[in-house]
Amino acid sequence: MKADALVLFGATGDLAKKKLFPALYDLEDLGELDVQIFGVASSKWTQEVFKENVESAVRARKPEVDEAALNKLLGEMQLIVGDYEDPQTFVALAEAIKDFKLPVIYLAIAPEYFAKIAYELDRVGITKRARVVVEKPFGRDLDSARALDAELKTILPEEQIYRIDHYLGKEAVEDLLVFRFANTLFEPVWNRNYVSSIQMTMAENFGIEGRGKFYDGVGATRDVLQNHLLQVLTMLTMEPPIDMTSDAMQNEKIKVLSAIRDINKNDVVRGQFEGYLDEAGVNENSDTETFVAMKMFIDNWRWAGVPIYLRTGKKMPETVLEVIVEFKQPPRALFGKAASNHVRFRLGAKDGVDISLQAKKPGTKLVTESVDLSVEFVAEFGDRQGPYERLLRAAMLGDHFRFTRIDAVLQSWQILEDLLKNPSPVIGYEGGSWGPTEADDLVPGGWTKVGTEADEINKGAH
Ligand code: BG6
Repeated sequence: MKADALVLFGATGDLAKKKLFPALYDLEDLGELDVQIFGVASSKWTQEVFKENVESAVRARKPEVDEAALNKLLGEMQLIVGDYEDPQTFVALAEAIKDFKLPVIYLAIAPEYFAKIAYELDRVGITKRARVVVEKPFGRDLDSARALDAELKTILPEEQIYRIDHYLGKEAVEDLLVFRFANTLFEPVWNRNYVSSIQMTMAENFGIEGRGKFYDGVGATRDVLQNHLLQVLTMLTMEPPIDMTSDAMQNEKIKVLSAIRDINKNDVVRGQFEGYLDEAGVNENSDTETFVAMKMFIDNWRWAGVPIYLRTGKKMPETVLEVIVEFKQPPRALFGKAASNHVRFRLGAKDGVDISLQAKKPGTKLVTESVDLSVEFVAEFGDRQGPYERLLRAAMLGDHFRFTRIDAVLQSWQILEDLLKNPSPVIGYEGGSWGPTEADDLVPGGWTKVGTEADEINKGAH
């Protein structure tokens, strides 16, 4: 059933401004929203100031707005000002939404408030009929995630909780499933018999952008590896679900996550960009990592023995999200040197797939040259939908398919448990580099080039 109201805690915050308001505008523009929206925030803004902020947030990210859709969105919005610690805030909210049958309550706020707000919502009688959306990170390790879950479950059953990992809203990430399970060509070779390694890079060419206070308590492993990177890995390595229902998907995800071997500390490199300690909000002795790279294994029938390398970092040479599935060499090198045969998934901007093949180089000799079969999806199909648009729509419709289930969240913390408890020391790296050189040694032969460096090599080959 479709929700008839949306309540947004953190309505004057950064996530609302950058992601949620533009996404709500997109839904409105498609004619799919049409509900009352109640922002809740402690900032003492007037209704006018709130609406001006929503408007400028939308205009900043949507160069060509449809004025009628924007006005409709603004007309549906109102702000409830109140402290999250003050029970009166919740009394006012309960009064404002008393006529709505099925509100979605989105907690776009710091995780330490999740349980407290759920408790207050329950006291004023809202939770029985609400869906509650919580942002990541869900906990900061296995114990805290379990404790948070236990607290929430005294108030809300699993069916009413929608845990966000916005990578699950990305069309490019979902496309991994389609690539694998809609093309008979690839699935037979998607295993240890043919794949020699998997590499994943999520790099950002910017730093922590004023988020020092939040980031310093979190670091790259908790901020993106435990959730975004493991979700991408799951999509890439899970078994086919028996159908496309949410439960069937979640059942396969938990299976593959459970097969990931606990990470060995010696297979991890943590880095910190030079100058991090001078950022506002960062502890002067902080050993929080802004880069992490690791080797892992999935101990199951399909993937046993295949090394999987993940790396993510801030202040890298460029912003990319890529996965490279490298195939084994043919049994004999009939055409001279061994060369790479891989599938490269570009999952960030301009997402697409490149299949790197060996072809005969023109001339009398039987030698090979690399060529790429490439597709860029936006060029083929037009613009993708944004992740928050897709997740907000799903929460409004009550569809759990693109949200995380608690068993998978706990399992992903379990994989990292030793590592988080006994972190290896952080190694400094220069901004604009690919992290500490120690990370290169994790991968025999070094990391395969990604981003524009890979594009250049491919262009050169043609
Ligand atoms: C967020 C992290 O979850 O994801 C940020 O907190 C990170 O640190 C962001 O920059 C990356 O998201 P995207 O969609 O830009 O790849």
